[in-house]
Amino acid sequence: METDRIPQSSGVTDTETGISSDSEIRGRSRSRKKIVVLIIAGLFVFMIFAAFYDGLTVRRYRVGTDKLDPGQNVRIVLIADLHSSIYGEGQKSLVGLIKKQDPDLIALAGDIADDREPHTGTEMFLANIRDIAPVFYVSGNHECWSYETDRIKAMIKRYGATVLEHDYRKITINGAEIIICGVDDPDIKLHKDIWYDWEQEMHEAFDGLETEPGYKILLSHRPELVDIYREFSFDLVLSGHSHGGQVRIPFILNGLYAPDQGLFPEYAGGLYRHGVMTHIVSRGVSYNPRLPRIFNPPEVVVIDISGDRPPQH
Ligand SMILES: [Fe+2]
Repeated sequence: METDRIPQSSGVTDTETGISSDSEIRGRSRSRKKIVVLIIAGLFVFMIFAAFYDGLTVRRYRVGTDKLDPGQNVRIVLIADLHSSIYGEGQKSLVGLIKKQDPDLIALAGDIADDREPHTGTEMFLANIRDIAPVFYVSGNHECWSYETDRIKAMIKRYGATVLEHDYRKITINGAEIIICGVDDPDIKLHKDIWYDWEQEMHEAFDGLETEPGYKILLSHRPELVDIYREFSFDLVLSGHSHGGQVRIPFILNGLYAPDQGLFPEYAGGLYRHGVMTHIVSRGVSYNPRLPRIFNPPEVVVIDISGDRPPQH
């Protein structure tokens, strides 16, 4: 009697039964492994690229206030910690990016110049931003460490910027009343007599401000002194200094180390709310090839202050 027999391990697929041979199964398994290895390698290359990417980025924040009328908006570009770095020929890349944001005001929150780098980058930067919007500047620690703070401030004034030194200006932007305040870096004490008291100077400058109408902004280089800023009636404080904590891991670690805050700094960069006061800390635009920024590209900060909703308590 004749019987139908299915060939065993014949090396070909039986098209009628759909059963694959051993060699075909091994081949498919090898292909899958190759694809997985390629995906992992691609992700690894992407992560390395993303980690060390040092191109300029724009970070945007929106702050609501009932001190501006509904529909009113004031746009600030905040630049901190340039350290005289140069972005493109004649600062073309940095200046172009700022111009593109169409700011009403440019705030320079310290360490724009440096104590060890030549002022070339700073001067090119100042020369090219002066026609974009009014510029307000406060000193940072590195400018104080240069022991030529007065010369740096004179240079900054020559380029049309307003230098704030524990004082303020009242300005009107798009119909909104703004009081822009600024303090020297605490290391300005290096240039003062032994009786100099930085905090006391702040009280002398800003204690009466709570009765003044208008939206009050403080420029101060150091973010870690936020408890002092909270003693006053500022609506918004703008700082730098922490360089984003140098090393970040997205969604896990907002900064590994920052000067004057140490490891795992609380104010490495971002937006922080303290009651009705908003504190924005720039991760800065410093570029130092000897000290790479990880997942922490230099940033131009854009802040829209809008009169369309009350501040969050
Ligand atoms: Fe600094």
